[in-house]
Amino acid sequence: MIEVNEVRQLMRPDGVHKRVYTDPEIFNLEMERIYGQAWIYVGHESQVPNIGDYHTTTIGDQKVVMVRANDKRIAVLYNRCPHRGANLVADDSGCAGKFFRCPYHAWTFRLDGSFLSAPLRAGFENTTFDPSNPQFSMIPVAQVDSYRGFVFAKQATGGPNLVEFLGGAASSIDNMCDRSPAGKVEVAGGVFRVMQFSNWKMFYENLHDTMHGPVTHESSVIAARKQHEQSGEMPFELLIQDGNGEPYTFWEKLELRAFHHGHGYMEGIFDPAAATRDPVSRAHFACLSEAYGEQRAREILGMNRHNTIIYGSGSPHNVFQQFRVIRPVSVDRTMVEIQVFRCVDAPEEVFERALTYANVVNSPSSNVMPDDVEVYRRCQVGNGTRGGDWISHHRYAGTDVVLPDGAVSINGTSELPMRNQFAAWFNYMGVSPSAEQPKQQ
Ligand SMILES: [Fe+2]
Repeated sequence: MIEVNEVRQLMRPDGVHKRVYTDPEIFNLEMERIYGQAWIYVGHESQVPNIGDYHTTTIGDQKVVMVRANDKRIAVLYNRCPHRGANLVADDSGCAGKFFRCPYHAWTFRLDGSFLSAPLRAGFENTTFDPSNPQFSMIPVAQVDSYRGFVFAKQATGGPNLVEFLGGAASSIDNMCDRSPAGKVEVAGGVFRVMQFSNWKMFYENLHDTMHGPVTHESSVIAARKQHEQSGEMPFELLIQDGNGEPYTFWEKLELRAFHHGHGYMEGIFDPAAATRDPVSRAHFACLSEAYGEQRAREILGMNRHNTIIYGSGSPHNVFQQFRVIRPVSVDRTMVEIQVFRCVDAPEEVFERALTYANVVNSPSSNVMPDDVEVYRRCQVGNGTRGGDWISHHRYAGTDVVLPDGAVSINGTSELPMRNQFAAWFNYMGVSPSAEQPKQQ
């Protein structure tokens, strides 16, 4: 097992050693120290609306099942039968009915995981088998909580509660929900899944990497601009591809906020015109004005926030109602699930726009995301060579403005998000952050 002292050697104030992406021992330690300790998003309440509904997922290297139990509460259970250890619930989503039944020997469990029955009970007489002993039940994950319908679970007891853990990142979930006149969203339209051939941390670092858009996504920017020239029109599909081609001066003006535990978001200047710029926004604005009043509706739609990072879980996008759920698979494999949300009771075209955004930007067949997946893969491959050991996070290092709950960049092209994520990472791994890095709670 890798020692803490050895992990400390991988840290610099303005960079990290490439082993953090390539060493399977580090990956195993992450599963224990990060995914074994942090609150991790397991799914949305709307994925399990009725008693018996379940949705399977992973918390790090652990397979779990989120289920709506008899008391309508959501339980998160390790997906294991206590008899022989079979993975009890098939991967995916569905309805278990009144109880879970193991496909191997038909042991059954109530929806909260507690033991219900096993065939031929006489065989247990005069043994130490005790149905009231939790070792004969499906084991629940230590803590489960929900924030505005987003369900998180944590394998460890104690520590910050979910709201404390989310810190400033919770405001992005708030804004996504507030875009519904009913104040809630629901997963709709299925999900996309993409297997990335790279370490999970690379995706988080890319989410607020404002220097890569015009470079990595150059081909889709050129394609969008050509189409615009030919047609004279700039529909939403082209507009969002074109956006990556903004000059560096545009990206420099964005604000990067970094919070404890590695979270953060990227924000543009508040944009009151966002409420009325196009027909979809106007319909949305009218609907929200009726629910909340015009001023509040303008505030909600004017929040000009791009990818939010909930470190370890993934990236909600409040403006276009999606959540890219990031699941580490191995040191060089990462599964990303893209969930799209409907703002309950908002005009249908708002949901259609969210689907369009998912298709154009986030789906496996998009013109945009495959560019990112390819550069992550190249980073993974390059870091496997002997051509140097260190990763650079120098851009605007030493200039981060420290705030009580994290830090803010002085320039939108700063590599503050990467420094902040690794400050949290080293903290999780048992190494105190250096003086130059934002302190973590
Ligand atoms: Fe990108």
